[in-house]
Order: sequence, then C-alpha cells, then structure tokens
Amino acid sequence: MKIKQGDYVLLYLDKRRKYLVKVVPGKEFHTHKGILRLDDVEGKEYGDIVKTHLGVSFRILKPLLLDYVKKFKRGTQVIYPKDAALMIVMAGIGPGSRVVEAGTGTGVLTALLAHFVKPHGLVYSYDISKKNLENAKRNLKAVGLDRWVVLKLGDVTEEIEEKNVDAVFLDLPSPWLAVENSYRALRHGGIFVSFSPTINQVEKTVEALKSQDFIDYDAVEVILRRYKVERGSTRPETFMIGHTGYIVFARKP
Ligand SMILES: C[S@@+](CC[C@H](N)C(=O)[O-])C[C@H]1O[C@@H](n2cnc3c(N)ncnc32)[C@H](O)[C@@H]1O
Repeated sequence: MKIKQGDYVLLYLDKRRKYLVKVVPGKEFHTHKGILRLDDVEGKEYGDIVKTHLGVSFRILKPLLLDYVKKFKRGTQVIYPKDAALMIVMAGIGPGSRVVEAGTGTGVLTALLAHFVKPHGLVYSYDISKKNLENAKRNLKAVGLDRWVVLKLGDVTEEIEEKNVDAVFLDLPSPWLAVENSYRALRHGGIFVSFSPTINQVEKTVEALKSQDFIDYDAVEVILRRYKVERGSTRPETFMIGHTGYIVFARKP
C-alpha cells in the first residue's frame, strides 16, 4: 500500500529514535541525522527506506495504536500498556462489547478500549472534569477512534446511566464508591475492573465488591521486566518501572 499525503508514518532510526510524522507535501522533518523531505516519503511503501540530506537511512514503518497513544496530550496519569492489556483480556473485551469507563482522564485506556470494541461496540466514558473530557476528545479524534466513544460529564459514584453493559472499567481515586452503581450497570456475568495505585484502595474496593455480591474477585499486579539481549551476557535492564498500580477484577453473578 503506497503512502499518501495525510498518512502518518513512524520514521525509525533505532529503538530509541522513532518519530511519528504526518506526511505533508513540501514539509521537512529535521533530525540530528539530517533533514528528511516528506515529499520523499509520499509514494513509498511501509518498510521502505528514506534518506536524510546527510545520507542517513530511516525505515518507514506503519504506526501502531500505541505509537499514536504515546503522543496524546496528557492531562492526567495514564494507564500503561502492560496494565491495559491484562485488564482488556481479563474483561473479555472484543468487537461488539459495550463498556462503561471512568474516569476518561487523558483517554489512553478509552482509545485502547475503543480499538477493541469496534466496529459494533461502544465505550461510555465518564469524567467529572470538563477539561479532561475536552482534551480526551481531541486525542480520540486524532486517532480516529472517537466514533466508538460516548464521552460523558458525570460522577460514576452518583450515577451510571447505562444498563446491561459487558464491563465497567474504573481508574479513579475512590473506586469503592462506584461499586454499587457498577453492579447495577453490568449484565449478569459482566466484569468489574478497577485500577488503583495504592493497596488500601484495593482493600476498600474488594470489601465493597464482597458486600455487593460480586463473585470471583482477584487482585493482581503486573510487573514487567525488560531484558538487554546480547549473546553470552543477556540480563535484565538495570532500570525499570517499579510500580504503576494494582488491578482488581470481579464478576457479577
Ligand atoms: C488517572 S485519571 C484516568 C486516566 C485514564 N485511565 C487514562 O488512561 O488516560 C483519573 C480521572 O478520573 C476522573 N474522576 C475522578 N473521580 C471521578 C468520578 N467519581 N467519576 C468520574 N470521573 C472521575 C478525574 O477527573 C481524572 O480525569
């Protein structure tokens, strides 16, 4: 498939130097390895090479959703891919799923959910902050996923309007206060998922789940360790992201 004007490409030099760029006619992209003319990218195929005026080669890659999401304008803390991946799989999210989410925040989890529920599903995403909703709206539009998201200004500890949804995802400071409304919103067999940075939030959430007759609850933490792979001396990277948060799952019977 040939690259055309308006397409996004990921210009890859090496693992640490990859740039998400929109192909705009007449524009140049300046790197410390020289200048790339975007006119030279147009008409090429993903996987081809483009050279800077200094002769340095960049590989033209098709961006992944994560490449776009990393560029979202941030208004809040966001969910990391390692956590989002498990949350989405454990909740059984797929094409056609109807999901309630709160809070929207920057819209990172919203975008990932929208990507998995399309083309027939929908994400109802609540936030109490108008400013965060507006920012998330721009981010979702930029990646073309806004069609599968209904952004809602509202407090889920007060009300969740939707009923019979397949899953409720919470990433907010007091998820235990939204457990009762989540129960009402879920269909039978629906999944509750909550992400919290501290363990006392987990305790409070699980206590609320127990008193609300949820079953099959689980609390987990995803620890991701990267490796430096070199023949004869492969070992874990020295630095890692030590903590993001805990994930609580439960099922409505
Ligand atoms: C950490 S951010 C969510 C980040 C989001 N998961 C992401 O990946 O971009 C928490 C958001 O929850 C919102 N929030 C806090 N309490 C809420 C409530 N009771 N109902 C709805 N949204 C709430 C905040 O305004 C904030 O935008």
